[in-house]
Amino acid sequence: MKTVIITGAASGIGLSATYLFLARGWRVVMVDRNENKKVFEEIERSYEPHVFFFKGDVSKDADMKKLHKFTKDNVDAVDCIINNAGVITHGLLHSASEKEWDDIFNTDVKGIYLTTKYFIEDMIESGGGTIVNTASISGLHGDFEMPVYNAAKGAVVNLTRAMALDYAEYNIRVNSVCPGATDTPFLNQENIPKYSRVNPLKRICQPEEVAKAMYFLASNEGSYCNGVNLPVTGGLDVQTGQPK
Ligand code: NAI
Repeated sequence: MKTVIITGAASGIGLSATYLFLARGWRVVMVDRNENKKVFEEIERSYEPHVFFFKGDVSKDADMKKLHKFTKDNVDAVDCIINNAGVITHGLLHSASEKEWDDIFNTDVKGIYLTTKYFIEDMIESGGGTIVNTASISGLHGDFEMPVYNAAKGAVVNLTRAMALDYAEYNIRVNSVCPGATDTPFLNQENIPKYSRVNPLKRICQPEEVAKAMYFLASNEGSYCNGVNLPVTGGLDVQTGQPK
């Protein structure tokens, strides 16, 4: 049985990925700073003993160190890490507080560094694995009034490429998914009609659709994909912007 660690697993895309990997016969270590007890107990009822929950903050070194110990104590080798925990902030750059800047970068970017710091050596020793980062369409292009998020997700995109180069020789593939607006608590629900209207498919993405792209990159199905930042955008990012 293969094991995946999924961060930001208590909600949205991470929760959908949890269900998908469990359904495909993987063992899942869910990580989140918020405990969603009701949801976890429901998952546990169907998938015990193959699912674990670890409460921790991906931006905190001490928490990721504890996650490493927790994983060692409960499962054998980790085959995949899905670095999915993420936060966003809106507004013009000069209005962002230093705390906002730090919070976004600490979770969205530093979180990837910390899981790598604690898990990559085990992965190398066990002969390889895969890492899937959750970037965003907002890491590939700019948005209005999201400069901090654009900068952080842009960093995730290029970090994915750099990790892909460095760890390929250890049989570790590193890729990212780059979703467009996805129907999770992360997205202001009032914006759904607006985001749907401008998308070529005339709808926003469902979290299950991102989970399937993650699974492709994480599993052997994507065995020759390395350093890919995969748009899951319904084609929003292929437009020139010229009118019909
Ligand atoms: P969500 O808000 O439903 O879930 C995010 C989860 O991450 C939450 O359970 C939250 O508690 C957890 N989390 C946040 N900071 C954390 C930290 N420091 N340590 C541990 N857990 C933490 O959001 P969603 O939409 O599922 O987001 C998942 C990822 O997808 C994020 O990286 C986000 O940036 C990205 N994304 C989301 C899009 C959207 O429109 N929903 C579009 C493109 C990318």
